[in-house]
Amino acid sequence: MYCIIGANGFLGSYIIKSILKKTNENIVACCRDISLVGDSLKDERITWRSLDICDFKAVSSFCKEYNRENKKVVYLAAYHNPDLVEKNPKTAWNTNIVSLSFFINEMDNVSAFYYPSSDSVYGNSIDGKVFEEDDDTNPVNTYGKQKALAERIVTTYGYQVVRYPFLIGTSLLSSKKHFYDHIVESLKSKVGMDMFSDSYRSTISFKQAADYIVELIEMNDKHPIVNISSDKALSKYEVGLIIAKKLGLDESLVRPVKVEDSEGIFVAKRASSTMMDNKLLKSIFDVDEIRLEI
Ligand SMILES: NC(=O)c1ccc[n+]([C@@H]2O[C@H](COP(=O)([O-])OP(=O)(O)OC[C@H]3O[C@@H](n4cnc5c(N)ncnc54)[C@H](OP(=O)(O)O)[C@@H]3O)[C@@H](O)[C@H]2O)c1
Repeated sequence: MYCIIGANGFLGSYIIKSILKKTNENIVACCRDISLVGDSLKDERITWRSLDICDFKAVSSFCKEYNRENKKVVYLAAYHNPDLVEKNPKTAWNTNIVSLSFFINEMDNVSAFYYPSSDSVYGNSIDGKVFEEDDDTNPVNTYGKQKALAERIVTTYGYQVVRYPFLIGTSLLSSKKHFYDHIVESLKSKVGMDMFSDSYRSTISFKQAADYIVELIEMNDKHPIVNISSDKALSKYEVGLIIAKKLGLDESLVRPVKVEDSEGIFVAKRASSTMMDNKLLKSIFDVDEIRLEI
């Protein structure tokens, strides 16, 4: 059985689809408000449960209820908008650190526990540095620092971490659109979009991110930390061009802008570029190339 915590989000919805497709397992999917779960995420193999991971009484009784069953857990619930984390660090700490730690210690009978972390733990790719899993972490904002600490909690407990770059893809949720959907809308309506051309990330799609984590779980991989990223770091501008080309839309509506000319739009500091090494991932899956697939 899979247990997905924070399941009704961008990545969670793709992970659910991937589990349904690649395995015969049932899923207990948890989110704060099950009334927001769309029909496309309902299936006879999925049991949706309301669970706020900051409500320790509810978490305890949920864990007791499922402690007899052997589970593969994917823990996605997070307070993760870097600007909001910077503004509300205590709220973020409670969700990202205290609640994670409480949940891990309450939930027994776990055959796999995966925590999706972020390239933000690495910080800036100075002089073209491409970060490997064993490199020191050097986050530039509170979100990255909390992710790095959350990783330590997870790996110290003996569980596993994957690090993702910026993820992109259409939203499978009826309740919210992703940045991808806003790009497509702006191109279709001919309004166009300004996109950063001088900040690079090893971007992959939500579908790739979900398929790799489910496959790692299914193959019982035991690496404590795995970077899940593409070979080539792309700017958001380049991602915009790829989307326009794929959908046959006017590429000139994707307009390059520089981060340095956009001062004041972010509250939290951002790494200008973060590039990830994916050699370990490619060796696990015995592939030569991983490209952004959207
Ligand atoms: N998207 C990316 O580019 C990216 C990159 C690297 C790592 N990640 C990590 O991947 C994970 C999922 O991100 P995402 O992109 O799928 O974001 P998302 O759509 O916002 O998903 C996060 C989910 O966490 C849930 N959540 C937040 N607080 C909760 C609480 N107190 N109790 C229960 N659930 C709670 C949210 O539920 P509500 O719907 O109720 O708010 C939401 O469904 C996060 O840990 C994020 O840091 C994402």
